[in-house]
Amino acid sequence: MKADPQPLFAGTGPGSQTHDGCSVELYRRARYAGEIEHLRGHFLPGTSVLDLGCGTGLLAHRLLDFGCTVTGVDNSAEMLAHVSDRVRRVHADIERLELPERFDVVLLPSGLINHAEASIRHAFIAAASRHVAPHGQLILQCQNAHWLRTAVLGPLSRSSELAIEVAALDRATVDGVEQVRMTLRYLMGDDAWTHSFALVPLDESAIAALLRHHGFDEPVALDDARRWFAAKPRR
Ligand SMILES: C[S@@+](CC[C@H](N)C(=O)[O-])C[C@H]1O[C@@H](n2cnc3c(N)ncnc32)[C@H](O)[C@@H]1O
Repeated sequence: MKADPQPLFAGTGPGSQTHDGCSVELYRRARYAGEIEHLRGHFLPGTSVLDLGCGTGLLAHRLLDFGCTVTGVDNSAEMLAHVSDRVRRVHADIERLELPERFDVVLLPSGLINHAEASIRHAFIAAASRHVAPHGQLILQCQNAHWLRTAVLGPLSRSSELAIEVAALDRATVDGVEQVRMTLRYLMGDDAWTHSFALVPLDESAIAALLRHHGFDEPVALDDARRWFAAKPRR
Protein backbone atom coordinates (compact mmCIF):
# COMPACT_ATOMS: atom_id res chain seq x y z
CA MET A 1 0.00 0.00 0.00
CA LYS A 2 1.30 3.48 -0.86
CA ALA A 3 1.88 5.74 2.17
CA ASP A 4 -0.31 8.84 2.39
CA PRO A 5 1.56 11.84 1.01
CA GLN A 6 2.78 14.24 3.68
CA PRO A 7 0.30 17.08 4.28
CA LEU A 8 1.42 20.39 2.77
CA PHE A 9 0.59 22.31 5.96
CA ALA A 10 0.46 21.70 9.71
CA GLY A 11 0.69 23.69 12.89
CA THR A 12 0.95 23.23 16.65
CA GLY A 13 0.68 25.41 19.73
CA PRO A 14 -1.95 27.12 21.89
CA GLY A 15 -5.31 27.66 20.19
CA SER A 16 -6.45 26.34 16.85
CA GLN A 17 -4.78 26.22 13.44
CA THR A 18 -6.13 27.08 10.00
CA HIS A 19 -6.17 24.76 6.97
CA ASP A 20 -2.76 26.14 6.04
CA GLY A 21 -1.28 25.55 9.49
CA CYS A 22 -1.38 29.15 10.76
CA SER A 23 -2.11 29.53 14.46
CA VAL A 24 -5.04 31.86 15.09
CA GLU A 25 -3.82 32.78 18.57
CA LEU A 26 -0.34 33.66 17.28
CA TYR A 27 -1.79 35.99 14.64
CA ARG A 28 -4.24 37.43 17.18
CA ARG A 29 -1.36 38.36 19.47
CA ALA A 30 1.05 39.45 16.73
CA ARG A 31 1.58 43.15 16.10
CA TYR A 32 1.67 44.80 12.68
CA ALA A 33 5.40 44.99 11.87
CA GLY A 34 5.42 47.63 9.12
CA GLU A 35 5.03 45.12 6.28
CA ILE A 36 3.19 47.51 3.93
CA GLU A 37 4.54 50.93 4.96
CA HIS A 38 6.69 51.13 1.81
CA LEU A 39 3.57 50.51 -0.30
CA ARG A 40 1.62 53.45 1.10
CA GLY A 41 1.71 55.28 -2.23
CA HIS A 42 -0.37 52.45 -3.71
CA PHE A 43 -2.99 52.74 -0.97
CA LEU A 44 -4.16 56.33 -1.15
CA PRO A 45 -7.30 57.34 0.80
CA GLY A 46 -10.40 55.96 -0.93
CA THR A 47 -8.58 53.05 -2.60
CA SER A 48 -10.70 49.90 -2.58
CA VAL A 49 -8.61 46.90 -1.54
CA LEU A 50 -9.36 43.18 -1.63
CA ASP A 51 -7.08 41.54 0.97
CA LEU A 52 -6.80 37.84 0.10
CA GLY A 53 -5.93 35.62 3.10
CA CYS A 54 -6.45 38.49 5.55
CA GLY A 55 -6.02 36.39 8.72
CA THR A 56 -6.77 38.44 11.83
CA GLY A 57 -6.50 41.64 9.80
CA LEU A 58 -2.94 42.79 10.54
CA LEU A 59 -2.64 44.33 7.08
CA ALA A 60 -6.35 45.12 6.65
CA HIS A 61 -6.39 47.25 9.80
CA ARG A 62 -3.37 49.25 8.62
CA LEU A 63 -5.11 49.74 5.26
CA LEU A 64 -8.07 51.24 7.15
CA ASP A 65 -5.61 53.65 8.79
CA PHE A 66 -4.43 54.63 5.29
CA GLY A 67 -8.06 55.53 4.45
CA CYS A 68 -8.74 52.54 2.18
CA THR A 69 -12.02 50.64 2.03
CA VAL A 70 -11.13 47.04 2.70
CA THR A 71 -12.68 43.68 1.92
CA GLY A 72 -10.88 40.83 3.68
CA VAL A 73 -11.18 37.23 2.55
CA ASP A 74 -10.19 34.18 4.56
CA ASN A 75 -11.36 30.58 4.74
CA SER A 76 -10.86 30.55 8.52
CA ALA A 77 -13.91 31.84 10.40
CA GLU A 78 -11.77 31.92 13.54
CA MET A 79 -9.27 34.27 11.92
CA LEU A 80 -12.06 36.49 10.55
CA ALA A 81 -13.64 36.74 14.00
CA HIS A 82 -10.69 38.96 15.03
CA VAL A 83 -11.03 41.34 12.06
CA SER A 84 -12.62 44.74 12.69
CA ASP A 85 -16.20 45.13 11.50
CA ARG A 86 -14.96 48.20 9.60
CA VAL A 87 -13.55 45.63 7.19
CA ARG A 88 -16.06 43.82 5.00
CA ARG A 89 -15.32 40.21 5.95
CA VAL A 90 -15.83 37.39 3.47
CA HIS A 91 -15.53 33.78 4.62
CA ALA A 92 -14.47 31.96 1.46
CA ASP A 93 -11.74 30.09 -0.34
CA ILE A 94 -9.73 32.49 -2.48
CA GLU A 95 -9.80 29.97 -5.34
CA ARG A 96 -13.61 30.04 -5.53
CA LEU A 97 -14.17 33.73 -4.80
CA GLU A 98 -16.84 35.34 -7.00
CA LEU A 99 -17.64 38.83 -5.70
CA PRO A 100 -19.72 41.10 -7.92
CA GLU A 101 -17.41 44.13 -7.70
CA ARG A 102 -13.89 44.96 -8.90
CA PHE A 103 -11.17 46.50 -6.73
CA ASP A 104 -8.49 49.16 -7.22
CA VAL A 105 -5.97 46.84 -5.55
CA VAL A 106 -6.08 43.09 -5.06
CA LEU A 107 -3.55 42.16 -2.37
CA LEU A 108 -2.11 38.62 -2.26
CA PRO A 109 0.38 38.71 0.63
CA SER A 110 2.17 36.21 2.86
CA GLY A 111 3.79 34.11 0.12
CA LEU A 112 0.44 32.54 -0.78
CA ILE A 113 1.64 32.57 -4.40
CA ASN A 114 4.35 30.03 -3.46
CA HIS A 115 1.74 27.31 -2.79
CA ALA A 116 3.22 23.88 -3.58
CA GLU A 117 0.37 22.93 -5.95
CA ALA A 118 0.47 24.58 -9.36
CA SER A 119 -3.33 24.38 -9.71
CA ILE A 120 -3.75 26.41 -6.50
CA ARG A 121 -1.16 29.00 -7.57
CA HIS A 122 -3.10 29.41 -10.81
CA ALA A 123 -6.44 29.56 -8.97
CA PHE A 124 -5.14 32.33 -6.68
CA ILE A 125 -3.99 34.47 -9.61
CA ALA A 126 -7.18 33.72 -11.55
CA ALA A 127 -9.18 34.97 -8.54
CA ALA A 128 -7.07 38.13 -8.48
CA SER A 129 -7.66 38.61 -12.19
CA ARG A 130 -11.46 38.20 -11.75
CA HIS A 131 -11.57 40.87 -9.07
CA VAL A 132 -9.15 43.56 -10.19
CA ALA A 133 -10.60 46.68 -11.84
CA PRO A 134 -9.42 47.41 -15.41
CA HIS A 135 -7.48 50.44 -14.07
CA GLY A 136 -6.38 48.56 -10.93
CA GLN A 137 -3.44 46.38 -9.95
CA LEU A 138 -2.48 43.17 -8.20
CA ILE A 139 0.06 43.58 -5.43
CA LEU A 140 1.58 40.33 -4.23
CA GLN A 141 4.22 39.25 -1.75
CA CYS A 142 6.25 36.15 -2.57
CA GLN A 143 8.82 34.23 -0.60
CA ASN A 144 12.31 35.08 -1.79
CA ALA A 145 13.40 32.11 -3.96
CA HIS A 146 17.08 32.47 -3.04
CA TRP A 147 16.20 32.46 0.65
CA LEU A 148 14.05 29.33 0.26
CA ARG A 149 16.97 27.61 -1.49
CA THR A 150 19.64 28.64 1.01
CA ALA A 151 17.95 29.05 4.43
CA VAL A 152 19.49 26.99 7.23
CA LEU A 153 18.24 25.67 10.54
CA GLY A 154 18.41 28.12 13.44
CA PRO A 155 17.35 31.63 14.47
CA LEU A 156 15.63 33.72 11.81
CA SER A 157 14.51 36.89 13.56
CA ARG A 158 13.98 38.26 17.03
CA SER A 159 12.12 41.26 18.39
CA SER A 160 11.28 42.14 21.96
CA GLU A 161 8.02 40.17 21.58
CA LEU A 162 8.59 37.44 19.03
CA ALA A 163 11.47 35.12 18.13
CA ILE A 164 11.28 32.98 14.99
CA GLU A 165 13.54 30.04 14.16
CA VAL A 166 13.77 27.51 11.36
CA ALA A 167 13.11 24.27 13.26
CA ALA A 168 13.02 21.78 10.37
CA LEU A 169 13.99 21.93 6.74
CA ASP A 170 13.88 19.56 3.81
CA ARG A 171 14.44 20.22 0.12
CA ALA A 172 13.18 17.76 -2.48
CA THR A 173 12.06 17.44 -6.06
CA VAL A 174 8.43 16.37 -6.31
CA ASP A 175 7.15 15.37 -9.76
CA GLY A 176 10.10 17.26 -11.25
CA VAL A 177 9.38 20.44 -9.28
CA GLU A 178 11.63 21.87 -6.58
CA GLN A 179 9.88 21.96 -3.18
CA VAL A 180 10.98 23.29 0.18
CA ARG A 181 9.40 21.93 3.35
CA MET A 182 10.03 24.08 6.35
CA THR A 183 8.88 24.29 9.95
CA LEU A 184 9.09 27.67 11.62
CA ARG A 185 8.95 27.87 15.40
CA TYR A 186 7.50 31.04 16.94
CA LEU A 187 8.24 31.96 20.55
CA MET A 188 6.22 34.63 22.31
CA GLY A 189 6.51 34.93 26.08
CA ASP A 190 6.14 31.42 27.47
CA ASP A 191 4.23 30.15 24.44
CA ALA A 192 5.53 28.39 21.34
CA TRP A 193 3.88 27.58 18.03
CA THR A 194 5.07 25.74 14.95
CA HIS A 195 4.01 26.24 11.36
CA SER A 196 5.03 23.61 8.81
CA PHE A 197 4.53 24.25 5.11
CA ALA A 198 5.63 23.12 1.68
CA LEU A 199 6.45 25.87 -0.81
CA VAL A 200 7.76 26.14 -4.32
CA PRO A 201 10.57 28.67 -4.87
CA LEU A 202 9.44 30.89 -7.74
CA ASP A 203 12.00 32.87 -9.71
CA GLU A 204 10.85 36.24 -10.99
CA SER A 205 10.50 34.76 -14.48
CA ALA A 206 8.11 32.10 -13.11
CA ILE A 207 6.03 34.76 -11.33
CA ALA A 208 5.91 36.84 -14.52
CA ALA A 209 4.82 33.78 -16.55
CA LEU A 210 2.07 32.94 -14.06
CA LEU A 211 0.77 36.51 -14.11
CA ARG A 212 1.00 36.75 -17.91
CA HIS A 213 -1.06 33.56 -18.20
CA HIS A 214 -3.87 35.26 -16.28
CA GLY A 215 -3.82 38.49 -18.28
CA PHE A 216 -1.43 40.65 -16.28
CA ASP A 217 1.40 42.81 -17.56
CA GLU A 218 5.02 42.32 -16.50
CA PRO A 219 5.30 42.62 -12.69
CA VAL A 220 7.31 45.49 -11.21
CA ALA A 221 9.34 44.97 -8.01
CA LEU A 222 8.26 47.24 -5.14
CA ASP A 223 11.08 46.61 -2.66
CA ASP A 224 14.83 46.01 -2.58
CA ALA A 225 14.36 42.48 -1.26
CA ARG A 226 12.21 41.78 -4.33
CA ARG A 227 9.44 40.10 -2.38
CA TRP A 228 6.68 42.56 -3.31
CA PHE A 229 5.50 42.99 -6.90
CA ALA A 230 2.74 44.96 -8.63
CA ALA A 231 1.14 44.00 -11.93
CA LYS A 232 -1.61 45.69 -13.90
CA PRO A 233 -4.20 43.90 -16.03
CA ARG A 234 -3.14 43.87 -19.69
CA ARG A 235 -5.08 46.40 -21.75
C1 LIG B 1 0.13 33.47 6.89
S1 LIG B 1 -1.51 33.96 7.26
C2 LIG B 1 -1.37 35.70 6.91
C3 LIG B 1 -2.50 36.54 7.38
C4 LIG B 1 -2.39 38.04 7.02
N1 LIG B 1 -2.29 38.23 5.59
C5 LIG B 1 -1.21 38.70 7.71
O1 LIG B 1 -0.30 39.16 7.01
O2 LIG B 1 -1.22 38.76 8.95
C6 LIG B 1 -2.38 33.34 5.83
C7 LIG B 1 -3.88 33.43 5.92
O3 LIG B 1 -4.41 33.03 4.65
C8 LIG B 1 -5.54 32.20 4.85
N2 LIG B 1 -5.65 31.32 3.68
C9 LIG B 1 -4.70 30.47 3.23
N3 LIG B 1 -5.13 29.83 2.14
C10 LIG B 1 -6.38 30.31 1.88
C11 LIG B 1 -7.33 30.04 0.87
N4 LIG B 1 -7.10 29.14 -0.08
N5 LIG B 1 -8.50 30.72 0.89
C12 LIG B 1 -8.76 31.63 1.88
N6 LIG B 1 -7.89 31.91 2.86
C13 LIG B 1 -6.71 31.26 2.86
C14 LIG B 1 -5.26 31.46 6.14
O4 LIG B 1 -6.44 31.01 6.77
C15 LIG B 1 -4.51 32.54 6.95
O5 LIG B 1 -5.41 33.28 7.75
